[in-house]
Formats: sequence, C-alpha cells, structure tokens
Amino acid sequence: MKLRYRWAPMLAVAGAVVAGVALYLMWEQAIAPIKPPAPSSFDGQLTLHGARVVALGDCAVCHTARDGKPYAGGLPLSTPFGTLYSTNITPDPDTGIGTWSLEAFTRAMRRGISRDGHQLYPAFPYIHYTRMSDADIAAAYAYLMRRDPVVAKAPPNDLVFPLNFRSLVAFWNVLFLRTGPETPDSSRSAQWHRGRELVNGLGHCAACHTPLNLIGGETWGKAFEGGVIDGWEAPPLMRLAHGPVPWTEAQLATYLRTGISSAHGAAAGPMLPVTQELATVPQADVEAMATYLFSLQQPPPADSAIASLPVADQAAVQRGSVLFAGACASCHGDKAPMQSIGDRPGLATSSAIHAATPRNAIRMMFEGVPWQGEQALHYMPAFEDAMDDAQIGDLAAYLRATYSRLPPWDAVTQAVADLRKGDAAK
Ligand code: HEC
Ligand code: HEC
Ligand code: HEC
Repeated sequence: MKLRYRWAPMLAVAGAVVAGVALYLMWEQAIAPIKPPAPSSFDGQLTLHGARVVALGDCAVCHTARDGKPYAGGLPLSTPFGTLYSTNITPDPDTGIGTWSLEAFTRAMRRGISRDGHQLYPAFPYIHYTRMSDADIAAAYAYLMRRDPVVAKAPPNDLVFPLNFRSLVAFWNVLFLRTGPETPDSSRSAQWHRGRELVNGLGHCAACHTPLNLIGGETWGKAFEGGVIDGWEAPPLMRLAHGPVPWTEAQLATYLRTGISSAHGAAAGPMLPVTQELATVPQADVEAMATYLFSLQQPPPADSAIASLPVADQAAVQRGSVLFAGACASCHGDKAPMQSIGDRPGLATSSAIHAATPRNAIRMMFEGVPWQGEQALHYMPAFEDAMDDAQIGDLAAYLRATYSRLPPWDAVTQAVADLRKGDAAK
C-alpha cells in the first residue's frame, strides 16, 4: 500500500521525537562533588533551625534502621512494588552525602535527583519536600552536615521489574511532581500559610492520609480522604471537625505535639513516630498545622438512607465481653486505675472504635503500644500471638457494640485474618 510508505517517514520522525523527549526527561547531570565542608563552617543558629526542620520532616524516622545509627539509612520500606532501603544521609564522603554541595542537596529535595544524577524513588517524599522554603532546605543541610559521619551502605533494593530501572521515575514525576513552593493566597493569614507549608511540605501528611492509585501516586482530587499504610488506616483529615467524634482545632494541635487527645485516643502505629518528632518542635508550628487543616474541613456526606441497619451478632458480643473482662478490663474497665491516670482517653470516644472499618482497632490489639520506659503513661501489650482470629474478632464486635452507637462492622473475623496475613493492601 502506497499510503503506508508515505506515512513511514512521518512515523520515524514522531518516534525519534518521542525517544528524544524520553531521553531528555530521563537524563540528569551529576553535580560535581565538593570537599566535605568543616562542621564549623555552618552557623550555630542555622543548625539549630535545621534540627526543627528535620524533626518536622521525620527524616530520622525513615533514615534510621532498627538499632542503627541516626541518619545512617538502611531501613527497609515495603511498597506494593517491592522493598526499598533508605540511604545514608550522614556526611560520610563515600557512603553518605559528605561530598554533596547545597545545590546537590536542594536538587534532591526539590526534584528527587541524587548528586550523581540518578532518579530517586518517590518513597522518599520529595513530591512534598519540594514545597519547602530555600531557608528550610539550607537549615536541614547544615544540620545533617554537622552530624557525625557514619560509614554505612544501604542493602540493594528488591523491586519488581521494570521498576528496578530508576530512570522510569522520570515519567512518574511528569504526572505527580509539581516543583517548588505553592503560590500565596492573599485572602489567608501568615499562620495559615505556614501551616500549609508544613502540612503539604515538610510534614508530608498526605503521603499516608491520601489514597494511593495503582502506580503508587496520591490520587488526584482525593487529598486527605484517608489512606492505608503498613496495615493501618490513616483516617481522613478533611472530616475531623464533623466525624462521629468531632475534633476542635486546639485538640488537634495538642494531639500532634503530645500524641494524645483525651477525646479521641492515642497516636499508634505509623502515626506514633510522627507525633514523637513533633513533640520537639515549637507549639506555634503545630498550631499552624491545625489552622491549615481546619480550613480544609468538609461537611459529612449526606446520609445515605439505610433501609435496615445491620444488627450486632449478640453471641460474638457476649464472647467478646468475657474476653474483655479477662484481658482488657484491668486497664480499660470503668473502674480500672488507668482510667484516671493523666489525660488518658477512654474507649467511649476512641477514633479507632468509631472508624468506618475495624482496621485500626484490630491493629491496636495486634501491636498494642510499645513499652517506652517507666516514664511513659502509655503501654498496652500486643495480643497478636496470644489470641486467634475469632477472639480478636469477638473483641472488636464487643468494643463497637459497647463503646459506639454505630452499626456493627461487617465481616470482622475475615478482616482479622487478612490483616494477620500481612495483607496490607486490603
Ligand atoms: C518516608 C520515608 C522517608 C522520609 C520521611 C525521608 N526520606 Fe530521605 N529517602 C528515603 C528513601 C527510601 C531514600 C532512597 C531513595 C532511593 O534510593 O531511590 C531517600 C533518599 C534521600 C536522599 C538522597 C540520598 C542519596 O544518596 O541519593 C536525601 C538527600 C534524603 N533522602 C534526605 C532526606 C531528608 C533531609 C529528609 C527529611 C526532611 C528525608 N530524607 C525524609 C526515605 C525517606
Ligand atoms: C496494660 C494496660 C492495657 C491493657 C491490658 C489493654 N490496653 Fe488497650 N490501651 C492501653 C493504652 C495505654 C492505650 C493507648 C491510650 C489510649 O488510647 O487509651 C490503649 C488503647 C487501646 C485502643 C485504642 C484506643 C484509641 O483510639 O487510642 C483499643 C481499641 C484498645 N486499647 C483495646 C484493648 C483491648 C481489646 C484489650 C484487651 C484485649 C486491651 N486494649 C488491653 C492500655 C491497655
Ligand atoms: C507514616 C504515615 C503517616 C504520616 C506521615 C502522618 N500520619 Fe497521621 N495517622 C497515620 C495513621 C496510620 C493514623 C491512625 C492511627 C492512629 O490513630 O494513631 C493516623 C492518625 C492521625 C490523626 C488522628 C485521626 C483520628 O481520627 O483519630 C490525625 C489528626 C493525624 N494522623 C494527623 C496527621 C498530620 C497533621 C500529619 C502530618 C504532620 C500526619 N498525620 C502524618 C499515619 C500517618
């Protein structure tokens, strides 16, 4: 066919253009290494500010392996696409970022490119850190460059084909990376702007609290509608003011800084390290975050008419109540001494028990609250090995029936089994 041949040169040109664009996107230059700067070359005030920035960004949470040295990397992060290890961000010249200039560090924070030009995987939340101010990036750099250098090389990643080719991240970035700080909104206060920068930038709250799509990006148009992380549910953050147990702005600020809200529960699972880091930042920062988050609050969805409310399985509730009396009432019972210690939340207002799914109540029973020494008011044993699926399921049914006025959760025992299998995506 003649026509086909006439199209051939045009197709070849189009193909070359596509290949050219792809290469252009994937190709990044190395930034020349520098001689590791002397720690004394960094201003003390700047370093102090850097400590606050690094706490707000949870850098140590991901960049410290269990029992490892702070910031030396090597923590495995499991993703739906395989396991990835955080890297060493101490100033060791060979295995860390000792030879990185501020320019190289800034490019990594804003665009997810390593000093030598390779693409970094978005498990490193640069799509959020890109919103940081230049001043905060420089302060984080100073703080990290003044740490003790640690020689440590992260184990090789174990990712599924073809994602083991880093260059492909360039195409992901076209979809999900919008570089640089957000544009100011003249109708809003300075406090709101600071809150937005902290929540959307350094705090990367959406990384857990937004549902992810099939290619691991945050779903467009669903910011803060709730997500799943390590088998826990990160609840929606745009209905805090109108949920089954409504929050106030002041309660939110207190929770972020102390990990406890007397009217909602205690931070647990992946939220616990977030609040432990926020405990070290100024009160003004968590207040700004609360102000911004409260500006996002939406009314609850119109009640969908439920023809007949499901009724609780009374036999399960009864079995749960016996288990509760034996294993839980010493701490959670109405007359338990722990009820009156400190600002401890009772179960009647617990977010986990009022959530749409039983996920966090189950995870709480599985993992408890880790022992953090004599000083801590918080401790709950882990029941994952002590109880079987049916027992945990019965307890969940009992908690829901006793401490909330909401309809029972559906298929609780199945949910326990799925979570126990580590089926984190469910
Ligand atoms: C949610 C986990 C997570 C958090 C939080 C996190 N990082 Fe990372 N970071 C990673 C992972 C994983 C990598 C490695 C990515 C890769 O190898 O592609 C990484 C890589 C980096 C790199 C590139 C290092 C190199 O050798 O290429 C820098 C720089 C960095 N992080 C700095 C920071 C700073 C500063 C913070 C805090 C503001 C931070 N990270 C917070 C997970 C995290
Ligand atoms: C040694 C004391 C202790 C025992 C025993 C205990 N808990 Fe807890 N539990 C705690 C503490 C402390 C917290 C965290 C602070 C809080 O939320 O009250 C907690 C939190 C919870 C929460 C989450 C509340 C929230 O939203 O923060 C649930 C659900 C729960 N426990 C259920 C149980 C069940 C079910 C049992 C028995 C199988 C049990 N606990 C046994 C101390 C205990
Ligand atoms: C690493 C994942 C992760 C990050 C990052 C994270 N969260 Fe969470 N968050 C969770 C999980 C999981 C829960 C549910 C467990 C619990 O209640 O402790 C939670 C619970 C909460 C709650 C309690 C909601 C309720 O209804 O009880 C609030 C409020 C909250 N997060 C706010 C934030 C803010 C603000 C940020 C950013 C500064 C943030 N989170 C960052 C995972 C995360």
